[in-house]
Amino acid sequence: MASLTIRKLDDELKAYLRLRSARNGRSVEEEVRVILRDLADGRVEPAEGIPAVSTAPAPRPASSAGEPRITLIIGGGIAAYKALDLIRRLKERHIEVRCVLTKAAQQFVTPLAASALSHERVYTDLFDAESEFDAGHIRLARECDLIVVAPATADLMAKMAQGHADDLASAILLAANRPILLAPAMNPLMWNNPATRRNVLQLRRDDVHTVGPNAGEMAEAGEAGVGRMAEPTEIAAAADRMLRPPKAQPLSGKRVLVTAGPTHEAIDPVRYIANRSSGKQGFAIAAAAHAAGADVVLVAGPVELDDPSGIAVMRVESARDMLHRVEAALPVDVAIFAAAVADWRVASEGSQKLKKTTAGMPPLQLVENPDILATISKLKEKRPPLVIGFAAETEHLIENAKAKFARKGCDWIVANDVSPATGVMGGDRNTVHLLAREGKEVTVDSWPVMTKEEVAAALVSRIARSVGTAS
Ligand code: C5P
Repeated sequence: MASLTIRKLDDELKAYLRLRSARNGRSVEEEVRVILRDLADGRVEPAEGIPAVSTAPAPRPASSAGEPRITLIIGGGIAAYKALDLIRRLKERHIEVRCVLTKAAQQFVTPLAASALSHERVYTDLFDAESEFDAGHIRLARECDLIVVAPATADLMAKMAQGHADDLASAILLAANRPILLAPAMNPLMWNNPATRRNVLQLRRDDVHTVGPNAGEMAEAGEAGVGRMAEPTEIAAAADRMLRPPKAQPLSGKRVLVTAGPTHEAIDPVRYIANRSSGKQGFAIAAAAHAAGADVVLVAGPVELDDPSGIAVMRVESARDMLHRVEAALPVDVAIFAAAVADWRVASEGSQKLKKTTAGMPPLQLVENPDILATISKLKEKRPPLVIGFAAETEHLIENAKAKFARKGCDWIVANDVSPATGVMGGDRNTVHLLAREGKEVTVDSWPVMTKEEVAAALVSRIARSVGTAS
């Protein structure tokens, strides 16, 4: 049986085949088969009259494991080395990756490395010597759920904006009917060049998505500015969001502020006043609010806990630092003050370590700290629509919590017994009572003993019912 080598055909015929196969959503190889079959059946299509074809996307190409699939086009730039890490980050998210390397990209990374990381064959040329047919730019463009270009060089973006298709990467991008995500990377002067600005604008109009570029140091010594490729984790997250758009969550679009942990009030450079708060309850609330889709700001005093994933924690020392951070975070939709803020600080902090003297103990004069909860509850402007305080008590729990409720001006109070026998301070469980107002009445909802995570989840779902999209 004779074999046909597409790349040996004359240019006009190749161009015709490429165009016709693109229009029909087939590879060149498949198109040739269709033509031969039609010929055999006596159905001949004139070369000029390329039939109108459906532009509807082909059926979703399930990967072998039913996981989403990305065609990753690696452009030629110094950031190409980060594309190898991107393959890893995508695979961690259970996304299958098929790589295409431009000629320039191969100056920076090898097809072998991309193949080893992706566990897939890597594509580099429009025509493939191995199969003697085209490398399947249509297939690469369609047998995926998303096309990612990282790094997207100025040149590749210019080609895309103009609709060029003179190599495999640009042919795939032109033939694509899948969403496209670009991670631009170039020198800041190139990024700011009017030609690039025009191309980026055009691509955005064409519904092409971008992630980055970020500001930072360039590979060129001493140069900095906007042009660094987004980090692989950012690109992977952006791709994942496009593949699996987050479902509307109960606190989507809401901004939630949480304070947590103790504060340390300096006596001198080495000593401070503190309390036993571990910050666990506040951190659990921040994590639960984040899991419910909220944009969370967590302001934490000195605690031994790691940042909950996806939340940037602002670490502070004293009550006054905490108040500044809280004020700077406003406006928010919900503010939850779970921190055990020190009520007092020393009036004048020693600039040197206090020394023992024969005159006896140095007197420690205390002054009151700002009450963050009361300050925020009483704001005229920017008062969050829902302000929640905590009342950690060691006796007369409900009675003291009710008095606090009246004094602080917040909307709800979460009261808990922190007497040593309960093990709440620093422990993993909590028994809480939620105080709220119904008209002039204060209602008390007593919850069973729960882990701090369970308390957090229950509180967040109450919050969602009150202010969230579920309300
Ligand atoms: O007055 P007490 O410290 O018991 O009040 C507890 C509540 O007030 C908690 O929500 C705590 O975070 C908040 N608080 C505050 N600033 C202070 C003292 C307490 O935000 N200086």
